[in-house]
Amino acid sequence: MVTLTYLGHSCFTMDNGKRSIIIDPFLTGNPEAATQADKVKVDAVLASHGHDDHLGDAVAIAKRLKVPVIAPYELACYCQRQGAEAHPMHIGGAYQFPFGWVKLTQALHGSAVVRESIEYTGHPCGFIIQMEGKHVYYAGDTGLFGDMALLGKLHSLDVALLPIGDNFTMGIADAVEATKMLNPAVVVPIHYGTFPVIKQDPQVFAREVSAKTSARCVILRPGEKLQVSTG
Ligand code: NI
Ligand code: MN
Repeated sequence: MVTLTYLGHSCFTMDNGKRSIIIDPFLTGNPEAATQADKVKVDAVLASHGHDDHLGDAVAIAKRLKVPVIAPYELACYCQRQGAEAHPMHIGGAYQFPFGWVKLTQALHGSAVVRESIEYTGHPCGFIIQMEGKHVYYAGDTGLFGDMALLGKLHSLDVALLPIGDNFTMGIADAVEATKMLNPAVVVPIHYGTFPVIKQDPQVFAREVSAKTSARCVILRPGEKLQVSTG
């Protein structure tokens, strides 16, 4: 059994009962966060890009637990400079980790750590994660792109985690198109409602998904889990 736990915004943990990972741990400063960074216990941290609402507590969690940040090369180098262990990868590449298999996918977005100055952290990404034979696609922050059809063709996706917040990423209409192309068994809307500018009604997305695709839409509130049964 693989368990996905939604921690708010775009943050998930993925757990097979023995090992677990956290993706884009924006917890500190996230009004919707379902846990705190110092309570997280994982074997790796996946970071899709350098924006604060994704990189978030990644370095702090990785340093405290002495586990790697898995990220695109430039972002991995940034995390190493902050004192964290890192495993650099890049778009199109996959690697078998002890917890499972991870492939980096493209994302149409930006990636930088924006503080007093802007530090470029390479290309943003999404992830396809295989754990216990189950495939989860985490789109990251992205606009719609046609090669999502290729991802759907190459991988039998059990779950797709797709942004619907609009403004910075796909909105509802484009996320429905993405669902058609990816053809996952289950789609979960993410990256909405955290801030006023990305307020969306996930029920509208769910209705559109059920009318126009063969996927089942599951709306998770922060703290809720989705069990992905194996076998
Ligand atoms: Ni972003
Ligand atoms: Mn974001």
